[in-house]
Amino acid sequence: MTVTTPVSQRPADRVVIFDTTLRDGEQSPGASMNLEEKLRIALTLEEMGVDVIEAGFPIASNGDFECVREIGRVVKTSVVAGLSRAARMDIDRAAEALQYAERRRIHTFISTSPLHMKYKLQMQPDAVVQAIADSVGHARTLVDDVEWSAEDGSRTEPDFLCRCVETAIKAGATTINIPDTVGYAVPEEYGALIRMVIERVPNSDKAVFSVHCHNDLGLAVANSLAGVANGARQVECTINGLGERAGNAALEEIVMALRTRHDAMPYTTGVRTEHITRASRLVSTITGFTVQPNKAIVGTNAFAHESGIHQDGMLKHAGTYEIMTPESVGLNRSTLVMGKHSGRAAFRAKLKELGYEEMGDNAVNDAFRRFKDLADRKKDVFDEDIVALVDDEVGRQNDRIQFVSLQVVAGSKGPQHAVLEVEVDGKACAPVVSFGNGPVDAVFNAIKQAFPHEARLQLYQVQAVTAGTDAQAEVTVRLEENGKTVNGQGADADTLVASARAYIHALNKLLVKREKTAPAALSA
Ligand code: KIV
Ligand code: ZN
Repeated sequence: MTVTTPVSQRPADRVVIFDTTLRDGEQSPGASMNLEEKLRIALTLEEMGVDVIEAGFPIASNGDFECVREIGRVVKTSVVAGLSRAARMDIDRAAEALQYAERRRIHTFISTSPLHMKYKLQMQPDAVVQAIADSVGHARTLVDDVEWSAEDGSRTEPDFLCRCVETAIKAGATTINIPDTVGYAVPEEYGALIRMVIERVPNSDKAVFSVHCHNDLGLAVANSLAGVANGARQVECTINGLGERAGNAALEEIVMALRTRHDAMPYTTGVRTEHITRASRLVSTITGFTVQPNKAIVGTNAFAHESGIHQDGMLKHAGTYEIMTPESVGLNRSTLVMGKHSGRAAFRAKLKELGYEEMGDNAVNDAFRRFKDLADRKKDVFDEDIVALVDDEVGRQNDRIQFVSLQVVAGSKGPQHAVLEVEVDGKACAPVVSFGNGPVDAVFNAIKQAFPHEARLQLYQVQAVTAGTDAQAEVTVRLEENGKTVNGQGADADTLVASARAYIHALNKLLVKREKTAPAALSA
């Protein structure tokens, strides 16, 4: 087990990494995650050495409350934070959600810019200052670690910002966050703002200063680093830069920039960077937000060298075109894992190496059966194949609807149709035959026939897990029902089987959502 050093004992150049994938990241439309998925991400972040995990906004919904509470229960080394507005009720709810967390933080915020105070809050500046004193003071009666954020801080009038910050620290805030909420700042100006606040606020030495930058102008990472260069020692960020609108600063970019350019930016983090690729893939699979191929650090092309001149240079010396190694971000150069003769023990060892230590026996057996099946059909089985296959298996044993088999007639002659077998609540259903406008439509119609529902398809996305025409397909399906969205994933060497699995996965998640809101509406 790794132990995170308390903030107060950290060296002056240590930057606290505060991950908000599960809160700000989830605010991206369509990126909703369920409890089991959030727990997996939280444990991955903890394993990675993230200092603070913002687990949710407990007052926002019972689901959010439950996620913060359960993450607080399982995460041991990272601080778990819950967000709250500057209202007593919000703060109490956040504290209640954090009750089991070994290391807990209440993160409370209020807007401070003239625009937000006038139109959004409809409050006078003096009332905002009073609300800061009251909310932070109240939070401090419940927990020792309180963060206060000035929402729209970068567009706040400087004197007023300093007054608010001083008030928050006096009331007991131990971290002060100055967000660039709308992604409007530019690096020099934002860095100067952070420096100005630290220099002018008389009690600034009693708090850690934090940056939280949105990416509307593509400057979130640059702004965050400018904040660090000017005294901030906490960066709020998300895996893959997930977040509202254009997203937040990407964790992997911040961490790798600090590591790779330590000569220019002499600051350290506690992140074990070899976990970055795994975390990126997990978040992308769960949310259905694919990473663009040329995305820094985690894009599929980030370490690819296509042109002849570059390849030649790389062969002579990797440093010619590579400023960091793929291994440093956990990207093993496509290792050939195992073939069809590999046994269960080797498979288990591989799972452990890939970070699936907590899998139960049933899930391992199911995954092993599917691995054997894949190895029969696919010449080379890579780590990525195993990850896709296992992600398709984890947490699905108790799903109400289980995929059994699928046969599809496709091609130009038609009519395209699908023959689908599923089990519902442990009972085998008679095979259904359904026609459609193409094979995918036929498959989805067959699922609707086997299990009637009104949910609307919002996203259907296919990605190849590895190169080659025998690659597994990884499919994401997003369904929407009564304003609630869920993402389902499926992987298989057959794209249509992967599509059916992804749709059924999404449908199962919707059923769980329905169960939580209206138990009576459960039957199909
Ligand atoms: O962008 C923002 O201002 C926020 C705050 C709630 C910290 O997310
Ligand atoms: Zn934000």
